[in-house]
Amino acid sequence: MRACGFVYSPRRGGNSELAVREILNCLPDDWEKVMVDLGKLDINPCRACYHCVPEGSKCAIEDELDIIIRNVKHSDKIIIAFPAYIFSAPGPVKNIMDRLLSVTSDYPGWPHPYPDCVVVNPYGMAEWEGMIKESGIAFANKLHLNVLAVQPILATLPADSVRGDNLDVLHKLASLLEKGKKNPDRSSEFLECPCCTSTAIKINPDGTVKCAVCGATGTLKRGGKGYEIVQNETDNAGYFTERALANHTNYLTDKKRLFMNTKDIIKEIQQKYAEPDYWFKESPDEEK
Ligand SMILES: Cc1cc2nc3c(=O)[nH]c(=O)nc-3n(C[C@H](O)[C@H](O)[C@H](O)COP(=O)(O)O)c2cc1C
Repeated sequence: MRACGFVYSPRRGGNSELAVREILNCLPDDWEKVMVDLGKLDINPCRACYHCVPEGSKCAIEDELDIIIRNVKHSDKIIIAFPAYIFSAPGPVKNIMDRLLSVTSDYPGWPHPYPDCVVVNPYGMAEWEGMIKESGIAFANKLHLNVLAVQPILATLPADSVRGDNLDVLHKLASLLEKGKKNPDRSSEFLECPCCTSTAIKINPDGTVKCAVCGATGTLKRGGKGYEIVQNETDNAGYFTERALANHTNYLTDKKRLFMNTKDIIKEIQQKYAEPDYWFKESPDEEK
């Protein structure tokens, strides 16, 4: 068995790193264990060139994104940890997520079964977790992982992630990862999407709902223990299902074809907006 921890934090010995180390320490001694520092990889922003479309085409940027992909393909278990930065994923993590558009259509060729995965997201201030759990879900799913649990943890100072109750939480995640078992409990006090466990739920006035992260639909129902979300039985949605990924790939392929066929018209419209030149060239004076 090979377990790989992906860590992003500019803090050496920070909460994300120690959380991953703790989980790795709990896994059997005879497993191969490695960590990848996402912040150290040379990964450039997506250029929106759509070179990766259609299916089978590769990203045009030659950098170290492949280190992540190769580690996923060669591991059985994955741990992901990154902190909340302004209610969401830190910029470099979002940067990597954007680049994963280039592997949207790759999934059928990836080794099966997809690796099991747990995600830990430290955040520093109670109630300020924002959308960090949802970022964790999106990141893990874009890597085609079998997501067992995504757990925000309140951890402010370095090493808080491996102190007190947080240690118990990490041990539970390690156990789920070792056994390949989905977390049977809620990781949040908020209602969770029955499909991906996100807490970012869009509510329509008629009580129907849609998950902002995975696109699953359902209905908000009042039961014995308060409100619950019941997923539509016919729901084939979900941005991360193989069917949805195939749909997305076809959509992008069609749009790219349309772009190629209408390039001249698009250029003509763009030309009309080329002047005046509004782009700023000098810093404005301090005083105004
Ligand atoms: C730029 C920046 C933005 C942050 N934004 C949030 C936030 O929105 N919510 C929150 O609870 N904590 C926030 N934090 C605190 C970190 O999430 C927290 O300290 C975490 O433990 C850091 O993890 P690390 O040690 O792995 O880097 C922020 C920290 C920094 C440096």
